[in-house]
Amino acid sequence: MKIGFMDSGIGGLNVLQQAVKAMPGEEFLYYADSDNVPYGVKPKDEVIHYVDSAVGFLAGQGAGAIVIACNTATSVAIDYIRQAYKLPIIGMEPAVKPAIEKHPDKRILITATPLSIKEEKLHNLLKRVDNNHRTDLLPLPRLVEYAEAGRFDADEAYTYLTDVLSGYNLENYSAIVLGCTHFNYFKAAFRRIIPAHVELLDGIDGTVRQLMHVIEYNKLTAATKPEEPLVTYYISGKPVTDYKTRKFYSALMSRAESMRIL
Ligand code: DGL
Repeated sequence: MKIGFMDSGIGGLNVLQQAVKAMPGEEFLYYADSDNVPYGVKPKDEVIHYVDSAVGFLAGQGAGAIVIACNTATSVAIDYIRQAYKLPIIGMEPAVKPAIEKHPDKRILITATPLSIKEEKLHNLLKRVDNNHRTDLLPLPRLVEYAEAGRFDADEAYTYLTDVLSGYNLENYSAIVLGCTHFNYFKAAFRRIIPAHVELLDGIDGTVRQLMHVIEYNKLTAATKPEEPLVTYYISGKPVTDYKTRKFYSALMSRAESMRIL
């Protein structure tokens, strides 16, 4: 049994990296929809169509469970996808609940793509967990652009973040929720700007825990274990075979790992 992952591009590699570490014996497929990235500034129906194509493709390649490793895709498409496919589908949820529970006093800044911020799913979550109205919402569409271009440490990302965060007195905040899987690559840039007491939180571990639970519950674990983690990458349905892209992905997996401790 293979485990399929999809994202609009490279953001989901942050989730894949943790899944590979947690389940080294499994076989993974990763679908980066790079022909259609970014999702977060597109109309909802268009994004649902892209997610449907990606999930259909992964199911056709033998995925027995699929992780939608993209907050935007999860927020617009997961209900439709769960109805359309008879497979376990695991999505991303921004870490708003853990942030509120862990930090009962100060404010919490939730960052995501413009589409996730517009969507009902996030507002329903806030209605459920943010009883004292302690959250603020901040869309960060340019980070997706910079990530796709591999420009993580360039001055432009730092300048952009400095600029958008200058509107907030971060002394009044105790956590920033990274509600888009592309944003994890920029934790180093956030750290350079925000006060040391502000925690950066994402939903990756929660998603991986949920995936492990689903795999175990459905007895989907691979019968024969490969000796090394096996990942097959696709860009919008085409297998990734060129050395340059494979090298880029492998560098991204290392970066994903190094951002964890920040
Ligand atoms: N990585 C995606 C997310 O988690 C979306 C980025 C985009 O394509 O706009 O929301």
